[in-house]
Amino acid sequence: MYTNRMLLSCISFLSTLQVLAAQHIRPIDPCEAIAGKKWALPREVRACFTSFPLDLIIKENVIEVVNKTLAFHTSVNYQIKAPPPFEHDVHEDLHADLARMRESYYSSDFDFHLDVYRSFKRVNDGHCGVYNLCYDSLYVTYLPIPLVLLTGENGSQHVHIAPEAFQVASAEFGDEIEFWQQALPGDLKGKLASLSGATVHMINGEDPFVAVNSNALVTGGYQSFATRQNSFFATYYRGPDNWQYSMGNFAQLVHPLVDSVDLTIQLVGGVVNHTLTLPYRSRFGSASKNFTDSASYRANNCIATNSTNGYDAYASSVQQVFHTSPISLFQQQPAVSPEEARKQPMNVMLDGIPLSDISLPEHLQPALSPLEPSYSVAQFYLLNDNITGVLALGSFSAKNFTEFGLSLLSGLQKLTADGAKQLIVDVTNNGGGYICIAHWLHRIIVGPKDTTVPQAGLDTMTRASPLAQLIVKAIQDGGDPEDQLLYNPVQWTNASHLPFSAHSDWLKPHNVTINGREDAFSQRIGQECQPFRWNAPDNALFDPKRVAIVSNGRCGSSCSLFSITMSKEEGVTTVVVGGKNDIRQQYCGTVGGQSTGFSSIDTEIKTTKLKNHALAPPDFMTNSVQGITWRLGFGIDDPREPEEWQEHNADINFPLTAKTVNNPVAIWEHIVDKVFALSMPLFHVQGL
Ligand SMILES: *[C@@H]1O[C@H](CO)[C@@H](O)[C@H](O)[C@H]1NC(C)=O
Ligand SMILES: *[C@@H]1O[C@H](CO)[C@@H](O)[C@H](O)[C@H]1NC(C)=O
Ligand SMILES: *[C@@H]1O[C@H](CO)[C@@H](O)[C@H](O)[C@H]1NC(C)=O
Ligand SMILES: *[C@@H]1O[C@H](CO)[C@@H](O)[C@H](O)[C@H]1NC(C)=O
Ligand SMILES: *[C@@H]1O[C@H](CO)[C@@H](O)[C@H](O)[C@H]1NC(C)=O
Ligand SMILES: *[C@@H]1O[C@H](CO)[C@@H](O)[C@H](O)[C@H]1NC(C)=O
Ligand SMILES: *[C@@H]1O[C@H](CO)[C@@H](O)[C@H](O)[C@H]1NC(C)=O
Ligand SMILES: *[C@@H]1O[C@H](CO)[C@@H](O)[C@H](O)[C@H]1NC(C)=O
Ligand SMILES: *[C@@H]1O[C@H](CO)[C@@H](O)[C@H](O)[C@H]1NC(C)=O
Repeated sequence: MYTNRMLLSCISFLSTLQVLAAQHIRPIDPCEAIAGKKWALPREVRACFTSFPLDLIIKENVIEVVNKTLAFHTSVNYQIKAPPPFEHDVHEDLHADLARMRESYYSSDFDFHLDVYRSFKRVNDGHCGVYNLCYDSLYVTYLPIPLVLLTGENGSQHVHIAPEAFQVASAEFGDEIEFWQQALPGDLKGKLASLSGATVHMINGEDPFVAVNSNALVTGGYQSFATRQNSFFATYYRGPDNWQYSMGNFAQLVHPLVDSVDLTIQLVGGVVNHTLTLPYRSRFGSASKNFTDSASYRANNCIATNSTNGYDAYASSVQQVFHTSPISLFQQQPAVSPEEARKQPMNVMLDGIPLSDISLPEHLQPALSPLEPSYSVAQFYLLNDNITGVLALGSFSAKNFTEFGLSLLSGLQKLTADGAKQLIVDVTNNGGGYICIAHWLHRIIVGPKDTTVPQAGLDTMTRASPLAQLIVKAIQDGGDPEDQLLYNPVQWTNASHLPFSAHSDWLKPHNVTINGREDAFSQRIGQECQPFRWNAPDNALFDPKRVAIVSNGRCGSSCSLFSITMSKEEGVTTVVVGGKNDIRQQYCGTVGGQSTGFSSIDTEIKTTKLKNHALAPPDFMTNSVQGITWRLGFGIDDPREPEEWQEHNADINFPLTAKTVNNPVAIWEHIVDKVFALSMPLFHVQGL
């Protein structure tokens, strides 16, 4: 028999044990450990991210939403095995990936997301991706030494720490730069500035191009391997308010997966090699929601919000709320008004790292004053030779669509009035934007002709999946009385560029076989931009033979629509700067025709009351975004096949030096010598 007293002491002994055990193994909350801190070590962030097991209901939800939304992405079957020239670059079966994921075990929710993220990145299509605000750029992971690829006088190329590295990093990271100053070994401690411009002999004990090429396999976004190599390096671009600096994939990472890098470098003017290990650091993202512990991290950042999924446009509760949709965070363009974004068709790249707002150092910014019509991402300059005009165009989107189109016309007219006879259009890191701005710019530069009127872009097709056809049927039956939906025939024209009638069954499937699989697309769709919102002049503003389009190859989406039509139809010269010299550079990539995402498709489905259909994707439960190509442009050289899979070889690969790298004016001046100083005909003419 136990006495009460024995029982009590027994209980008290047990609870003491429990307390001791709890104190001993009380799991510290790894998210609480970094909460409220702007900077953390990558492994600390990883500890938080990986501390959540994968909920199988969430896993199935993501797989189902993503898989069913793929029926609206034009390129699924093409991407299983891309035709030449991209046969080595694109060979991903996304449906098979999702089936594999369903059968796979993941040690955490984060590991599962990484698999989804990377599988989609492997299609190397900047429109097609799955992002999750719970992990992608929640923290952005940095090194203070962005890299560049420079070419010496004898033509040999070497990877260098950017000459401007210290200026960029100290301006952007402020006092936090001290962390890296102290991390430097021996004589270099506190002398981070001395690393600027150094030659990089080895990265992690191997030739730097081993690291460049492994990054090219995971960074995604562009079909061309050369362009994905270029993504490793630091570059500039014109932002809406200022000149910006893009750190490149070596010095800026979307996930906290790497703790440090080993480098062998030779300082500028130095004769010896230094070997050092530099730690990465993770900074809380500018769009991330504050948290105090694991529970609030998940609640604030990881769960679907009221703008993750679509809505029924005619539900009485929706008072035309134009959400800023979460996809806009990953769109590689400056913020646009949500109203305009709904009205104007868009073709824009996505990436896990939002557009950077790091400034290009003052001494590299154009000292020339921009001409008066310059607006936002479009800046006009007349070079000191008085005959070369420059349009620096960082995006095909700007806040005010109307003003933007107008400024492009007035700026080019001002250049010609000031005496410009030749034009450089710098589209470095231009991730696309409004389709009709791309058509408009093509039209006004070269004037009215059969390649610009009525179609200044590419004819397109969209996928005619069974659910898409039902959406069109519901619209035919009066399901969209205010003409708000993407699938409404009144938004589009046929191959003769004549508008479809309101009751047209325009999505009757045209059956095709792609990579041995049955697929179905719409009829050929014409243009929807003309008549333009602005009055176009009757004459060309520049002779296309005196126009050069310049970039680092990272010109995508609407930027591709513009540069492809300018190059293939008008014969302008295309220049890639800074590319590796033994590989063919492409002047653009990810063509598409029009891009969109899950939530817009979900709005089409909910508005036409098809959400309960077996083919309809459910709502995302997670804070996720899925991007797709909704229309695919037809080719110019081969007009029956998608332009996506045709060559975009640059005419010139222009080498960068320590003097010209990331200095836009220096680059433009040198390109003038190379491209325009020669007598006609120019390079590309020989190839035709
Ligand atoms: C994805 O959808 C296709 C139909 O388009 C279906 O055949 C396949 O089983 C689905 N895959 C997964 C992983 O659910
Ligand atoms: C080019 O010059 C560099 C030194 O700047 C030298 O190391 C390299 O061997 C030279 N390459 C050729 C092909 O001459
Ligand atoms: C520096 O390292 C590179 C790569 O290992 C090597 O080729 C070069 O000779 C070294 N330079 C010196 C001065 O040791
Ligand atoms: C998030 O935390 C930062 C730093 O603690 C603070 O400056 C900021 O105002 C907070 N943001 C919100 C929305 O509470
Ligand atoms: C959606 O959520 C945001 C932030 O929680 C809130 O400000 C907004 O009013 C909500 N909008 C609707 C339409 O419910
Ligand atoms: C360009 O024009 C300016 C102003 O008219 C003049 O001062 C300058 O000499 C001109 N430059 C050249 C290269 O003709
Ligand atoms: C956009 O610019 C046009 C032309 O300057 C102006 O009329 C219009 O009000 C602007 N729209 C917005 C939303 O600011
Ligand atoms: C486009 O529509 C017009 C008017 O309905 C028709 O006459 C024309 O044949 C159509 N063009 C094509 C290519 O279908
Ligand atoms: C296209 O394929 C679908 C599904 O296999 C079939 O029902 C339809 O009849 C085909 N259409 C044509 C025009 O061949």
